[in-house]
Formats: sequence, C-alpha cells, structure tokens
Amino acid sequence: MPLLYHQQQPTVMRMNNYTKLVEKFHGNDATILFGDVFPALDQIADSSVDLIFADPPYNIGKQFGTFLDSWSSDQEYADWCYQWLELCIQKLKPNGSLYVMTSTQAMPYLDLWLRSRLTVLSRIVWHYDSSGVQAKKFFGSLYEPILHCVKDSKNYVFNASDIEVEAKTGATRKLIDYRKAVPTPYKTTKVPGNTWYIPRVRYRMPEYEEHPTQKPEALLERIIKASSNEGDLILDPFSGSFTTCAVAQKLGRRSIGIDAQEDYVKIGLRRLSISTTYKGAELSAIQKSTARKNQKSSLMAESESLWQE
Ligand SMILES: C[S@@+](CC[C@H](N)C(=O)[O-])C[C@H]1O[C@@H](n2cnc3c(N)ncnc32)[C@H](O)[C@@H]1O
Repeated sequence: MPLLYHQQQPTVMRMNNYTKLVEKFHGNDATILFGDVFPALDQIADSSVDLIFADPPYNIGKQFGTFLDSWSSDQEYADWCYQWLELCIQKLKPNGSLYVMTSTQAMPYLDLWLRSRLTVLSRIVWHYDSSGVQAKKFFGSLYEPILHCVKDSKNYVFNASDIEVEAKTGATRKLIDYRKAVPTPYKTTKVPGNTWYIPRVRYRMPEYEEHPTQKPEALLERIIKASSNEGDLILDPFSGSFTTCAVAQKLGRRSIGIDAQEDYVKIGLRRLSISTTYKGAELSAIQKSTARKNQKSSLMAESESLWQE
C-alpha cells in the first residue's frame, strides 16, 4: 500500500514573504541568484546541473536575517521541501547527484519522498563535537544527516581515489592480507564510510563568515571532489555563506548559488570575488577580535549544538 506522503497534495504554497524578483550577479565561474528559491530555480535550465548540495532551513526556529526558520507543522515543512526538491531534480542532468541536509527529525520525510524518485546511495552522518553546554538529561545531538542521491544508479560520478582517507584498522602493527598469493600489507587508505567527523566552523577559524549555520569547507570539499569533475556545474539552492560555491571555485568547478537574504548575498559577492562593492559600499570580511568573545555569545554558540537538530 502506498505511503500517505505520496498520496497527499502539498497543502502549503511557497510560504514566505519573498517576492518573485531575482537579481543576478555573474562572476567568471560563479553566479549568484538573489531571491526566493522557487523563482530562482525557475531561471536555471532543466537537466543542466551536475551536482546539487541543498542545505535548507531546518524548521528549528533559527533566524536567517529577516527570515524565521519555522513552519506550523512537520508536514507543512516537508511539503515546502518537496516543492523545491521537485524543481532540483528537474535541473539535474541524467547522471547528476543530489546531496540534501535537514534536521534529524525532518529527514525521514525527505528520505521516504526522495527514494521514490531517486536512488539514495548513502545516508551520511556528519558528526562534530562540542565542549560547551551539554545535555544532562538526554543524549545531546552531535550530528546532522546528509542524503546522497543519484538520478541513475548505473551512471553517476564518484571519484573514489580523490577522497581517500587513512584506513584505521585499530591494530598497532600492519595487518597482512594472507589471502593473496604473496601475503601483502592491507591498503592504508580507503573511501570514507558514511560517518564523517568534521569539526564545525568556529569563530576563530579563517573560513568563518557571519552566518548562523555555515558548513565547513572540508565537508563540501569531500562532496564536490567525489561527485563532480573539473568544469562541472554545481548548484546550491540555499547558499548562506556561499561555502559550496567558494569550494567549487577552488576546485575548478562552476557554480550557481541562491539565497534570499541580502547580507548573505554580500558575503557571496566578496567570497567569490564577483564584486568588491555592493550598492556603492565596500564589501569587507568581518573584523575578528583577537580578544576572547564575551561569555554570553560563546555560550550561545556552544549551546546551538543542543538545539541544532
Ligand atoms: C542552513 S542555511 C545554509 C547554510 C550554507 N550551507 C552555508 O554553508 O553557509 C539556509 C539558508 O537558506 C536561506 N533561505 C531561507 N529561505 C529561503 C528561500 N525561500 N529562498 C532562498 N533562500 C532561502 C537562508 O537565508 C539561509 O542562508
């Protein structure tokens, strides 16, 4: 019997106050679309994108500039996601890949919906640690899920040798493979499994931008290297600090980044070297204080880990 999610028609139409206006900014290898995700995606040709990394608002009440990340129910949030996911799938090439993030509690909705349209190759756990405020009455959340999907499970890009990591056996001595004709030490590198330990972006890190949910460059580097080739086109429909586009640029890929908040578009314009000014004003990176941040803000940053899922 089909699942309820597949029978339901979306009940929410593109909920937010954004207009249909999309402003475009072009660089040599990156384009920024400033506007709501739906009219922005409408501007992109179908079957033109090699890789999509989608990190939408998670419906956990975060403030993104003027936008509050809160829907009235899980189902309404899921219905909104289904609408932009449908468009993303249209934009992907037949051999394209889609990586999607959301909160741990919302991911089951997206997983069930996506697996009837694409092949889910991996369910990745991005794990990080926190030394700050910790949950004391339950197991605190220290991970975010990522789905890795492809349109065609027999034809997709996966550059295994570009992302290998050290193969930790747990043994102190080298392990020998005695099944071989001549016993040989096991290979010391491997393709990473589906649990990725990558520290979150902290204030003191050089890559830090003023965005509440900035993803680490190392996370995007692995995804982009694995699932695209040089010159390929990468789309990030919720770019935030434009990490995806910045890493794509470093790795010789082209990119399109969408965001509806002016402050984040300004980060993108500077980070991607598209412009040094915006509306006549100089664009500059945040001036970081070398002094310790005040206790309130560092506690707030640490306590995010409790509520991020
Ligand atoms: C989870 S953050 C993305 C963070 C990003 N991956 C990074 O590394 O910085 C989600 C982003 O979606 C943007 N956003 C929210 N609603 C949107 C909409 N309707 N259309 C376009 N962007 C939207 C927010 O402004 C926010 O920057």
